[in-house]
Amino acid sequence: MFNSSVVSYPDRGHFGNSQYRGNTTGKIIIDLIDNFLPCDGLFVDPAVGGGTTIDVVNHLCIANRFAGFDLHSGFNLIRDDLTSAVGQQADLIFFHPPYGGMIHYSGNMWGEPHKDDLSRMSEYDFEQALKLALVNISDATKAGGHYAVLIGNQRKKGRYLNWSSMTEQLAPDPLVEEIIKCQHNCVSDNRQYAKPLIRINHEKLLIFKKGQNTNAITDLEGILNGMSETFMANILVMLKRLFQCRDWTQKELFDTLAHLAKSSPYELFPAIDYLLKTEHFKMIDGRYTLA
Ligand SMILES: C[S@@+](CC[C@H](N)C(=O)[O-])C[C@H]1O[C@@H](n2cnc3c(N)ncnc32)[C@H](O)[C@@H]1O
Repeated sequence: MFNSSVVSYPDRGHFGNSQYRGNTTGKIIIDLIDNFLPCDGLFVDPAVGGGTTIDVVNHLCIANRFAGFDLHSGFNLIRDDLTSAVGQQADLIFFHPPYGGMIHYSGNMWGEPHKDDLSRMSEYDFEQALKLALVNISDATKAGGHYAVLIGNQRKKGRYLNWSSMTEQLAPDPLVEEIIKCQHNCVSDNRQYAKPLIRINHEKLLIFKKGQNTNAITDLEGILNGMSETFMANILVMLKRLFQCRDWTQKELFDTLAHLAKSSPYELFPAIDYLLKTEHFKMIDGRYTLA
């Protein structure tokens, strides 16, 4: 059972195939189950990889309350509906995706390269596919249930690719716990680097709690509401930034931004018109300033 937000399992235990690159210790899954799987609850893993969760549920004698899948055995999280594959919603879902392209799975750990393998995508496609996978997982979780994503970050060509932070932003439900897991026995531990660098020695287990029941239609509704809120919030920030530099009449503002309004697919001027009349701005002698 977790009793700290930082965990370390130097001995990974005997769960799963330790030769399967990127495998995790089963001990963190046992702790997750202890905290979040109700008695008689259903547990799901849509990307079992080397079978760690399978060994864990056998060890805990709960295999009859478990469903496990992976692209390597025909289930595709970005094409197939997880709820339909399981047959019902789950109480707890554990998802351990590839950490971007850090390790290739198809064509390396199994089979031929697969176009929907999350580990073989551009950064942009990975973000889109991860979002789709997370919404699929959320819909497959019972209201009041939980899903947990174990994910680490990556350094590539001088950039820090913060996949765990991205996961937090993409998941459609509130984050309720963040567990930092110290990493042990990584292939990169033995690598020598030309310049001194701070080794990434942790992963995160992000635990989300499912609110009310959702499906693909309600998900779309939520996304549309979120998009217009985000659009207005971003325009407000940028308007404030413009007003930090000087005061403006509405005409001056619209003339200056005309080229953006023309090329943007969004309704820029109606948004600005609306925001200028809010409590964030005031007008003195026909000129707007920050309130
Ligand atoms: C980090 S590994 C999981 C390791 C596993 N937890 C273990 O301990 O062995 C990620 C897995 O995601 C799978 N995967 C990649 N794309 C997928 C997709 N579209 N649908 C389902 N699984 C996918 C890969 O085949 C790989 O086994």
